[in-house]
Amino acid sequence: MMDDYLAQRKRMQISQAEIDRRIADAPFGPTSKKWASRWLSAESWGQVGLALFDLPPIVERAENDLLIDADGKEYVDLLAGFSVSSLGQCNKEIAEVIRNQAGTLVHYFDLPHPERIKLAERLKEISPTAGGDSRVLFGVTGADAIELAVRAARFYTGRPMILTAFGDYHGVTYSTMALTGKGGMWAYFYPVLPHCEGVGYFPFPYPYQSPFGRPPAGEDDQAWCLDRLRDYFEYYFRSKESPYREVKGGITNVAAFVVEPFQSSAGYILPSAGYLKLLRRLADEYGILLIVDEIQTGLGRTGKLWASDWEDVRPDMLVTSKALGGGLPLSAVVARADILEAWGPGAHVSTQAGNVLACAAGNKALELLTANGFLDKVRADGAYFEAGLTALAKKHPLIGHINARGMYIGLELVRNRDTREPAPDEAGFILKECVREGMVFEKGGYFHNRFQLIPPLTIRRSTIDRALGIFDRVFAAAERKFGR
Ligand SMILES: Cc1ncc(COP(=O)(O)O)c(C=O)c1O
Repeated sequence: MMDDYLAQRKRMQISQAEIDRRIADAPFGPTSKKWASRWLSAESWGQVGLALFDLPPIVERAENDLLIDADGKEYVDLLAGFSVSSLGQCNKEIAEVIRNQAGTLVHYFDLPHPERIKLAERLKEISPTAGGDSRVLFGVTGADAIELAVRAARFYTGRPMILTAFGDYHGVTYSTMALTGKGGMWAYFYPVLPHCEGVGYFPFPYPYQSPFGRPPAGEDDQAWCLDRLRDYFEYYFRSKESPYREVKGGITNVAAFVVEPFQSSAGYILPSAGYLKLLRRLADEYGILLIVDEIQTGLGRTGKLWASDWEDVRPDMLVTSKALGGGLPLSAVVARADILEAWGPGAHVSTQAGNVLACAAGNKALELLTANGFLDKVRADGAYFEAGLTALAKKHPLIGHINARGMYIGLELVRNRDTREPAPDEAGFILKECVREGMVFEKGGYFHNRFQLIPPLTIRRSTIDRALGIFDRVFAAAERKFGR
């Protein structure tokens, strides 16, 4: 087993020759290439930028939905800093708040200040949790907040196990890595693997590439997938040999489900309708807590404030980050009051948690996100983007499937629409060519054949048109190259 990880580690390593090749081949100007050489002489080669792209653009400036690199080349921004810059890069109102706050108070350790208190109150108001009253807990990063939620769930219930879906992403700290179904990354934890973290996995109901196989002719993908997941839980919760023990009698060792409502890093995948409702029902039946990771799906990304709002599900804990700090690092857990009141003073601390600038920017961000009509516009602009992509799918057989909610848009590339055979090489080629044309986004997916489109929620229609134009040209080039 360990040998496998060692072999995998060798395969994943990158050489100086490969770095030189990537810099030489990159579609960037001379200044960017110089910066790239300096970057990779100074920073670790384990960077995510070298995994997401051959070489990422070296970005110097940005305006709302456009990034500008060190040579002045523009890129349509379909990354939005992984949804951190949801309100657009360099949002003027947020920038003004940060400037003003920087002259008043910048940091006060993990201690109270008015901006933090206002933000906690506002988060309580806008985050639906089961059971009425709630309390807030601040962190710095997404993984940080997930760890806090898991710790609180175990402390409150006195149970060790956490259940999550294969393909979920909850961070890459030691404990969150156990919850992150990215097997490829485990080798990087060699030789102390995140195995021992008390985590069990279940299949994610991904209707297009169902983990349960395709439904019998005439049956609906979505319902089929959810029914199979329901059967799976029933079976394992009933079984006398269940690793989750005798659940029917109310005795279980499972503290919580920790789930993404839609799977983001796995490829912006919408599950079968009813997924969260099913988990809420099981949680209620067996006294398990439902922890919903809204770090990527929350704060308006899907056209509602929270993705769980699409199913009207109230979690016991909701975890948020990314856009929360208005561009600055901040995360929070909003949980049922009785769960967080079970802790005593000093149960948690982090030097950087609840930073004043981040909380002030966060208060402004929440004001903008919850302003009248803002989410209506996100839904309307998202529908416009989706309609443009649907029109492209008529011309380009490589586009097998589009799933979209608001500005949460996933595209799946296939070699054959009937068999749904994934098209990972084609996807890799298209991403590279889009960077050349001036557009960035993430490629992911269980089969490396999905595009996650994460524009700022404030993207202009003219920029959406520009993105569609680039996709049109590059899909045509891919179809010529790969012969479709
Ligand atoms: C759903 C989800 N949870 C957790 C995380 C981890 O957040 P961070 O990278 O800030 O630790 C991410 C990051 O992309 C995420 O998308």
